[in-house]
Amino acid sequence: MSTFLMPLEPITSLDAYLAAGGRAGVEAAQRIGPAATIDTITRSGLRGRGGGGFPTGRKWSGIASQTGTRRYVVCNGAEGEPGTFKDRALLRANPYQFVEGVIIATFAVGADEAFICLKASFERELEAVTRAVQEMQRSGICSDCTVNIVAGPDEYLFGEEKAMLEVIEGKPPLPRWFPPYEQGLFATGPQEGWESGASRPRAGGPNPTLVNNVETLSNVPHILANGADWFRSMGTPESPGTVVATVVGDVVAPDVGEVELGTPLRAVIDAVGSGVHAGRDVKAVFSGVANPVVTADQLDVPVSYEAFSAIGSGMGAAGFIVYDDTACMVDAAYRMSRFLYIESCGQCPPCKIGSGEITTMLERIETGAGEDTDIANIEAWLGRVTDGNRCYLAVEERLVVSSILRAFPEEFVDHIENHRCPRPERRPIPKLLDLADGKATYDERFWQKQPDWTYQSL
Ligand SMILES: Cc1cc2nc3c(=O)[nH]c(=O)nc-3n(C[C@H](O)[C@H](O)[C@H](O)COP(=O)(O)O)c2cc1C
Ligand code: SF4
Repeated sequence: MSTFLMPLEPITSLDAYLAAGGRAGVEAAQRIGPAATIDTITRSGLRGRGGGGFPTGRKWSGIASQTGTRRYVVCNGAEGEPGTFKDRALLRANPYQFVEGVIIATFAVGADEAFICLKASFERELEAVTRAVQEMQRSGICSDCTVNIVAGPDEYLFGEEKAMLEVIEGKPPLPRWFPPYEQGLFATGPQEGWESGASRPRAGGPNPTLVNNVETLSNVPHILANGADWFRSMGTPESPGTVVATVVGDVVAPDVGEVELGTPLRAVIDAVGSGVHAGRDVKAVFSGVANPVVTADQLDVPVSYEAFSAIGSGMGAAGFIVYDDTACMVDAAYRMSRFLYIESCGQCPPCKIGSGEITTMLERIETGAGEDTDIANIEAWLGRVTDGNRCYLAVEERLVVSSILRAFPEEFVDHIENHRCPRPERRPIPKLLDLADGKATYDERFWQKQPDWTYQSL
C-alpha cells in the first residue's frame, strides 16, 4: 500500500526532514514558478481534505487570478469534526511537510502572509508547528515568509472558513456572509452589518484568501517533488492519492492511518481501527457529523469522494465513527443533533431554534416519552432548519438526522410504541481530545456545554 504522509517514526527535526528528502517541493516550485506550480497541483487532481473535497488547483488559480489586491493564505488546523484526529496526527508525525506546503501555497498564489490556525488547546501541535516554522525560517528555506500562528477557540465553528477569518481578525467564531475568495482577511467592504466598537483594520480591497486544510497542504510538497503523474498513480481517477483516515467508536483499537483512496470502507475499519469486537457486527458508520449515515449493507463502498457521493453520503474528512449492532440509532441521532444545536451560533434563527427543537424531540423519543406526532414535527423542522443559513452546519443537521430517520425507522417506532429504549448502552459524542496507542480520549466536558457556549458547573 502506498503511503507517504505518515512516516513510521515521527520527524522531529529539520535535519531529519531534509535527510528524508524534504525541501525538494519548495525548490521545484521556485524553479518552475507560480503558474506552473498551480498547474502541477491542478493536474495532480488533489482535492481538499477538510471535508468538502474541492479541487485544490482550481481554488489556488481562482485566488491567484485576482490581481491588484492583497492575497492571504489561511491553514485550517481547527480539526473540530467529531471522530476526526488526522490533522493532529499529521502535525505530530511531520510538521515540516505541512509548513513546506504552506510556503509553496503562499508563493503560488502570491500571498503577502500566511496564517496557521490551530486550537489553543492543541498545545503539542502548536509547539511542533512553531518549531518547524522557526527552523525553516532560520535555515533560509523561507527567511522572508511572514507566517503567523493563531491559537483559536475550542468551538466547532472555528473550523468553518468564514468564521476562521473572523477569529484571525480578533473576533468570535461567527461565520460571516461572504466566502474567503470573495471577501478575504481585512477586506474593505462590502458592509456586512452594523458594528459597534472599533472597526477592524481594513486595507487593500477584497483581499481574496485561500483557505486549505492541514492534510491538503501536507500533500503539496510531495506532489511538487514527485510530479502530478506520481500522485495520480495512487487512488482513483476522481480521488487521486491517499487519505489519512480516523476510525473511532465501537472498534478494537481506534487510530489514525493513511490509506490509498478507493480502499473499501470495511478494509479501512479493519486496517486502521482493528475492526469491531468479536461477535459484533457493524450497524452504522458516520463520516463525522456532517454526512448521511452509511449502513451495514454499504460497507464495501470505496473510500473516495465519488463512491461516497454515489451511495448518497459524503467522505467528509474521512473521520469514521463506527456503531456496532448494540447501538441505539435514536440515541445516535439525539447526540449528533445535540452537538450541532449546541455548536450552532444562532445568527440564523431557523438553524439554532430548529436544531434545538429537533434535539428536544429526539431526546423525548429516546427516553420513551415520545409521541407519534414527534416524527412529523422533526421532519417539518428538518425542511426549515437551513432557511437563510450562512454556513453548512444547518445542512449537516438536516443530512444526519434525516438519514437516520430514513435508515432506521423501526427503531423510532419501537421507542414510541413501547415507551422505552431497547438498547440502553450509551456512546459519547466522539469529540476527541487525544488519540494514541489504540485509545481515544473524548471530551467528557462537552456534556456541560450549553447552547450559549458557556459551561454548566456541576
Ligand atoms: C461547521 C464546520 C466546521 C468545519 N471544520 C473544519 C475543520 O475543523 N477543519 C477543516 O479543515 N475544515 C473544516 N471545515 C471546512 C472549511 O470550511 C473549509 O471548507 C476547508 O478548510 C477548506 O480546505 P480544503 O479545501 O483544503 O478542504 C468546516 C466546515 C464547517 C461548515
Ligand atoms: S447556519 Fe447555524 S451555525 Fe451557521 S452561521 Fe447560521 S446559525 Fe450559525
